[in-house]
Amino acid sequence: MLEEQLRRIDAIKEASGAVDFTTLPVVKIGVIGGDGIGPAITRATKKVLERILAREINSGTVVLSDIEGLTLENRLRQNKPIPDETLEAIRDCDVILKGPTETPQAGGGVANIESANVAMRKALDLFANVRPVRVPDLGIDWTFFRENTEGAYVLGSKGIGVGSELCTDFTVATKPGCERIINAAFEFASQNGKKRVSAVTKANVIKKTDGMFLEIFKEISKGYPGIETDEWYVDIMAAKLIDDKRRRSFEVLVMPNLYGDILSDEAAEFMGGVGSAGSANIGARHAMFEAIHGSAPRMVAEGREAYANPSSLMRAAAMLLSHIGRHDKAARLGAALDKRMFSDKKIEITGRPDGATCDEFTDGVLVEIDEA
Ligand code: IPM
Ligand code: MG
Repeated sequence: MLEEQLRRIDAIKEASGAVDFTTLPVVKIGVIGGDGIGPAITRATKKVLERILAREINSGTVVLSDIEGLTLENRLRQNKPIPDETLEAIRDCDVILKGPTETPQAGGGVANIESANVAMRKALDLFANVRPVRVPDLGIDWTFFRENTEGAYVLGSKGIGVGSELCTDFTVATKPGCERIINAAFEFASQNGKKRVSAVTKANVIKKTDGMFLEIFKEISKGYPGIETDEWYVDIMAAKLIDDKRRRSFEVLVMPNLYGDILSDEAAEFMGGVGSAGSANIGARHAMFEAIHGSAPRMVAEGREAYANPSSLMRAAAMLLSHIGRHDKAARLGAALDKRMFSDKKIEITGRPDGATCDEFTDGVLVEIDEA
């Protein structure tokens, strides 16, 4: 197990730099529906992308391609988190737009396959999970940089049970793994006029891995003298995100995997719930864009699928556009979403019949795009 991690370090060191998508003759976007409410919100988001990219799709510089097979049934049938032919189709694309996929829980009575998200992040080495949360009314403008390939996740399915009364799991940090996510956070801050980067760890208790993360943070911060830094333990950060006096000062936050998972859900709640936040999973070659929430099987079981909120996946689509260098289109989509989420033209989605449907929200966003 440790040797596998040492090999991963070598692979990280050998990985090439980022691709400049604006120089590619064709950018191929793979579209995956997923499970539960996934297909509905993905269909809606694809429609929006098709509208905004219409000219490029017509001229062939952008291709949108549906990828099949990433459903829970197919994954269980093949007993794999991502079926081989699906992974091949994914690798063949430059970027992926992905609806949520259901993860079976250990002990749930079905095969204990790994989460498709976690498997995809590993398979494509998508090390940076970028999750922006913006609530203009509250003065909140946060960007979470969550390490996405290490921490408690990398060996999350490989814990050991000793007899019936002892279990242990593993958490992993590597120097190049910490460096690349912390560098990404500082680079984002310096390119986007952000003045503060905050590190979030639990280095007072998880001394080895979080300790190294924090040491590397301090080292890298020296290269950015114009950016203020501070360090927080994850428990007090969870509290300070609720503290109206303090929270406005946070801008870019960088942290190991599990803390980023938890804090980004907490943060999204201020914006309108996990249904409203997008998530970018970025690697050197590939990138995948998704909602931060799950597949909501309960909504489907209760017949409320039509009321699913597509705005999280649409936010992710805006990040996708920006990632492939279509910044003006990303801004247009972002502005259309802001109109329909925050202004007096807001279309309220509650997930229930007292709110708008996924289609009504989507039509509203399309109108804003057309008028922009
Ligand atoms: C997320 C999700 C995943 C995670 C689950 C589905 C495995 O909660 O993307 O935040 O824990 O990373
Ligand atoms: Mg999560």
